[in-house]
This record gives sequence, C-alpha cells and structure tokens, in this order.
Amino acid sequence: MVSSNIEKALNDQVALEAFSYFQYLAMASWLDNNGFEGASKFIYNQAEEEKMHMQKLFFYINDAGGFAKAPAVPQPNHEYASLEELFKLILNHEGKVSTSIHELVNLCLQEKDFTSFNFLQWYVSEQLEEENLFRTIVDKIKMVGANTDGLYMLDKDLGRMAITPNQPLNSDMQP
Ligand SMILES: [Fe+2]
Ligand SMILES: [Fe+2]
Repeated sequence: MVSSNIEKALNDQVALEAFSYFQYLAMASWLDNNGFEGASKFIYNQAEEEKMHMQKLFFYINDAGGFAKAPAVPQPNHEYASLEELFKLILNHEGKVSTSIHELVNLCLQEKDFTSFNFLQWYVSEQLEEENLFRTIVDKIKMVGANTDGLYMLDKDLGRMAITPNQPLNSDMQP
C-alpha cells in the first residue's frame, strides 16, 4: 500500500502528465494552423502518449491502495514564435518531467517503497527516450535554419514519424 506521501507525489505526477497532454494538444493545433501539417500529426500522437502516461499512473495509484485524483490543469500556452521555439519548449518541458520522475523515484527509495520504485522504472526509460527524440528534432531544426525547402522536408518527415513512430528521424532525413 502506498504511503500518503507517495500517493500525493504520484497524483502530482498525474497532473504533470495531464498538463503535458493538453500542452501538446495546444501545440499540435498551433502547428496545424501554421502550415506544419506533418509536425502537427506527430505532436498529436505525442499528446496521446502523454494521456497514456497519465492513465498508467492513475490506475497504478488505485491498484496500490491509494486514491487517484483527476487533476486541475493550468491553461497551456497557445502562441509560439516559430517551429524552433516550439520544439525547444518541448525539450525543456521533458527535462522538467524527467526531474520530477527522478524526485519521485528518490522518494520511493527513501520510504523503501520498492513496488512503486519498480513501477516507475518504465517512466525513467520513457523519459530518456523522449528527451533523446526531441533533442534530435531540435538539432535538425537548427541545422535546417530558415531554409524553407529544408523546413518543408522536415515537416514531411515528422508526419511520416507520426505514422511509423519507431522509425528514427535520422534515417528519415536521407533524401
Ligand atoms: Fe509523459
Ligand atoms: Fe513526455
């Protein structure tokens, strides 16, 4: 059974994953409205993943004898200066999520809650993957710069990644 401390920390993580879901939904909408159709599809898929992250935690809290609470979510940002700014914000946000997961893991160790510790290992690996993925995309956007042909190709590649998410961006970028 989870302690009240860990139950609270897990519910806080539910709220952060819910915020990620709505933030990515807002970003996908901006992308769709600004001509980045491929990137929009890709970010809609990422939003769905965040929803899954939230639900997985939600079910765990109740399975572990706690009480999962549906969170209040702050209004996400809807305005971005550029594709580059948007993806840099995502990378930064994922870094914050990783820190939050690591603090939660640390709390589990302090309280010797090895069940929750074990459950959270999936999130530790998932964050590594997500940070890597978004770092690669930010690097590609920087490489392309203001080149409109390059941006067009990158957008198409992101759209393809939305359909086959396991395909790495690097191989997609080959002409
Ligand atoms: Fe997440
Ligand atoms: Fe994420």
